[in-house]
Amino acid sequence: MIDLVTQARSLFAPGKGILAADESVHTATARLAACGIATSAEMRRQYRDLFFGAEGIEQYLSGVILFSDSLGEKGDDEELFPASLASRGIAPGIKVDLGTEPFPQSPDELLTQGLLDLPERLVAYKAQGATFTKWRAVVRIDGDQLPSSIALHENAKRLANYAKAVQSAGLVPILEPEVLYEGKHSRQKSRAVLTETLSVLFAILDEHAVDRASLILKTSMVLSGKESGKRDTPEEVAANTVAALRESVPSQIAGIVFLSGGQTPDQAADNLAAITKEAHATGAPWPLTFSYARALQEDALAAWQGKAENVPAARAAFLSRLSAASAAVR
Ligand code: 13P
Repeated sequence: MIDLVTQARSLFAPGKGILAADESVHTATARLAACGIATSAEMRRQYRDLFFGAEGIEQYLSGVILFSDSLGEKGDDEELFPASLASRGIAPGIKVDLGTEPFPQSPDELLTQGLLDLPERLVAYKAQGATFTKWRAVVRIDGDQLPSSIALHENAKRLANYAKAVQSAGLVPILEPEVLYEGKHSRQKSRAVLTETLSVLFAILDEHAVDRASLILKTSMVLSGKESGKRDTPEEVAANTVAALRESVPSQIAGIVFLSGGQTPDQAADNLAAITKEAHATGAPWPLTFSYARALQEDALAAWQGKAENVPAARAAFLSRLSAASAAVR
């Protein structure tokens, strides 16, 4: 059996990254509805198969993060999704958090739930072929009010408990404290909040004795808020993102993956290319790659429209986005 560190590091194979295809039923329904596609369990299965069944994805993907429903579903080729991905050298991962819940002590913020029955679920997910996992926490910026220190700490504690449980189960944890792009905040504010979020997180991970070497951080980029009226250049994004990560992330972790967060697909690719260049130029200690959902899927979904005759065009759009993301991390 390969050890967890090797397993975590293998997700950073040169030029490869991770497809996040772990939208909950609620989110998948909204994504399909945005393209005029009425949802059903079968439509959601076809939505996943559109991506997992595309020929050649193994050139660009080291892993795919699945939603629990997908672990037991089959592609049009009649193969279970995890087995089909694994047969092409793509590690199947699983989102294990159960979404957010209100935080009574700070009503405008959310906590992530899912710890209660996590150990039992991990055993089942592993038996279904998952080798790595993801837990997402949400960090909202609003003026100088949010995020609150108590929400940052509580979400970090839950991330630490998640990571411990996952490592004990022999799986790799991806920790995703997503600092939201939505908002009117400045780039400076985004950088300060990312630095604080990650500093709090890594201090709490140490308190809980979480093994650094086998964990992966999934992070946002430092961006001016989406509603700020400012569009940062890739160089600005790269300089601020790499500086924030250097200030707050220990060098020993297995690597860092980026989410796209609602950027356009071009923006997400251009910013990632600039971050890669900056990280290389400044000798950053961790491997970096992408773990995008929307920036890889958006064009394909628009082309697909839920129709079988559009599958080839939709898959071509997906492969073109994958190829750009792969080029960005080379
Ligand atoms: P986006 O790339 O669409 O931000 O999604 C990544 C993800 O995994 C969110 O949890």
